[in-house]
Amino acid sequence: MHATARAHTNIALIKYWGKKDDQLKLPCNSSLSMTLDAFYTETKLTILDADQPNRFYLNGQEQSLKASQRVVNYLRVLQERFNLSGNFLIESTNHVPTSAGLASSASAFAALAASFNAAYELNVDLTELSRIARLGSGSATRSVYGGFVEWQAGDSDENSIALPLAEHPKMDLTLLAVEIETAKKSISSTKGMNLVVETSPYYATWVEQAELNIGQMKMAIAANDFSAVGHLAQQNALAMHALNLTADPGFTYFQPETIRAMQLVAELNQNGVECYFTMDAGPNVKILTQLKNVEEIIQRFKNDLPHVKIVKATFGPGIEILDK
Ligand code: ADP
Ligand code: DP6
Repeated sequence: MHATARAHTNIALIKYWGKKDDQLKLPCNSSLSMTLDAFYTETKLTILDADQPNRFYLNGQEQSLKASQRVVNYLRVLQERFNLSGNFLIESTNHVPTSAGLASSASAFAALAASFNAAYELNVDLTELSRIARLGSGSATRSVYGGFVEWQAGDSDENSIALPLAEHPKMDLTLLAVEIETAKKSISSTKGMNLVVETSPYYATWVEQAELNIGQMKMAIAANDFSAVGHLAQQNALAMHALNLTADPGFTYFQPETIRAMQLVAELNQNGVECYFTMDAGPNVKILTQLKNVEEIIQRFKNDLPHVKIVKATFGPGIEILDK
């Protein structure tokens, strides 16, 4: 029994940052993302007899027991949920830097959930697929769908699900991923968000503001208003990163070049080139802009930060089964 699935990463425009239930990965606030065409994970899952050892290959390299633990534990949780047995051969390729704040966990766990569903021929619907992807990594919930996606926080396994807002949006929106540093980050998303929930005196304000931002962002999307989408995404990202400084101990994912990239965005806007930024749990910066400004922005970044890699992306699709 085996199946191969492809899932694209997604970048949150309104971020998920904190859980109210670690096991079920129930978030404290709803979030909203765009699925990206340029970054994805492909995972082949083969179900083995129980006497064969679990094996996990990532980008062609066999992973240690320790590095395989999160993935194997996740598949065990799914087996328990559906009362299934067997061991696993997992062969996965990331077309996205791993653990660098470019959302590899979103595409990774969505691809695992989809290959599990297909390999065992469970035929669960997309809503259930978004629930079981959530059990692997919160942001994976949203990678089940393409385009703009909302993850409604909910308060139970049943109602904490993703919903597609527009699978093929008409908006002229390009995301430029500025890869400042693609090495594994020192504070994982899971750790970073737990620390702010536990220690930041401003956490309740973040949740309140993020919920307001969701309503505003949905209105901006419905009105096909690029400027409002970009502005809201930037404000929400700044709030998340400001919150990290208020944890105890305070921390940041920014590196000097992250700040430089933010300054470049301000300078471009002063010169009439409209663009916005957002950052996740890592130093890399994602610029939101329109097609007409893409080349000028890339040129400006190449002049100022010649060694950074810039990858162009726009809306990507939801889960795909490649082979069964
Ligand atoms: P990122 O910013 O890339 O999402 P995180 O630290 O949030 O980084 O998540 C990375 C987690 O996802 C790690 O536990 C890593 O082992 C796991 N992961 C990344 N890619 C894969 C993959 N293709 N298959 C299974 N697990 C993966
Ligand atoms: C900043 O989904 O990686 O990218 O649920 O603990 O696996 P876990 O965290 P994860 O966190 C993503 C955080 C973020 C914002 C977002 O994608 O909404």
